Amino acid sequence: MLILGLETSCDETGVALYHTGRGLLAHALFSQVDIHVEYGGVVPELASRDHIRKALPLIEEVMASAGCSAGDIDAVAYTAGPGLVGALMVGATLARALAWGWGVPSLGVHHMEGHLLAPMLEAERPDFPFVALLVSGGHTQLVRVDGIGEYKLLGESLDDAAGEAFDKAAKMLGLPYPGGPHIARLAEQGDAARFDFPRPMVNRPGLDFSFSGLKTYTLNTVNDCQASGGLGEQDKCDIARAFEEAVVATLVIKCRRALKQEGLKTLVMAGGVSANRNLRASLAQALQKDRARVFYPAPEFCTDNGAMIAYAGAQRLAAGQRDEGGIAVRPRWPMAELPPITLAAG
Ligand code: KG4
Ligand code: ZN
Repeated sequence: MLILGLETSCDETGVALYHTGRGLLAHALFSQVDIHVEYGGVVPELASRDHIRKALPLIEEVMASAGCSAGDIDAVAYTAGPGLVGALMVGATLARALAWGWGVPSLGVHHMEGHLLAPMLEAERPDFPFVALLVSGGHTQLVRVDGIGEYKLLGESLDDAAGEAFDKAAKMLGLPYPGGPHIARLAEQGDAARFDFPRPMVNRPGLDFSFSGLKTYTLNTVNDCQASGGLGEQDKCDIARAFEEAVVATLVIKCRRALKQEGLKTLVMAGGVSANRNLRASLAQALQKDRARVFYPAPEFCTDNGAMIAYAGAQRLAAGQRDEGGIAVRPRWPMAELPPITLAAG
């Protein structure tokens, strides 16, 4: 079965072709970062309009690079939520129109389930059950995963998502949006011993997160530097390093706690923040001590992309799920509402 996957939930237009027997055939991505950068964040209307401009050319590009034509496609999967309503509507209407025109089924996919299953695109895949750490711009969640659609929320952020915290800290340092990769770059030149940022909520039991205190601490540190002679380049690097260390340490502590609580030895990490090299290395190192393993997608499939949507769609389509009449998107959509299926395709 050959699936066309479309991702348009936020500021990236992602398109991919996934074959259940042959794997990922082709994928393409257009990032709108340059459009939104002057506003310091995503402008929803501009995002929707640009998805309209980019989606069809990207679909043509992906089909050409996979050497396939419309008649080869067996189904269309698209992100139906959560995300920006206008951006989601662009993907949903386009996907449903194409599927209708081609006489094939379509299916709306949950964006976070896409992230969660992205490690399955790699050669070495995790086996169920596992604990998943989902860390993106909109979500920070620890989820017990017993199978596709068998999700138990173990903990989540009570305020900002980890990616959002990276983006806000970056703004305080005068770095462009999205700030995560910029903080990571500066952190590499930073002195880890200069500032000691708090590790939020690690001394409290449970698996929830909170990043707003860390945000305030970052702002106060920036202000202190400014008051004592200005915020220099090295100050920025040192703050970025301290901030990153604090987020990473918090995530590592909670992941280990979640694995212990659930009696599991496999962790899956996905979402934009999972591209962070310090986080990847620290988790791998910490879990080695517990004889546990961490799986994550290739960096290009950590952030939003069409491949993860094509893959998640392929699984659910293979299990017989189809869109019903009408076009519906769900800007808010708890992942626990998804029905369970057995892993079948690819
Ligand atoms: O998954 P994603 O592409 O979009 C959402 O679904 O939100 O995640 C985007 C988030 C942004 O907040 C961005 O700053 C963060 O992921 N991010 C990073 C890194 N790369 C992207 N955060 C820290 N380190 C990175 N290397
Ligand atoms: Zn995402």
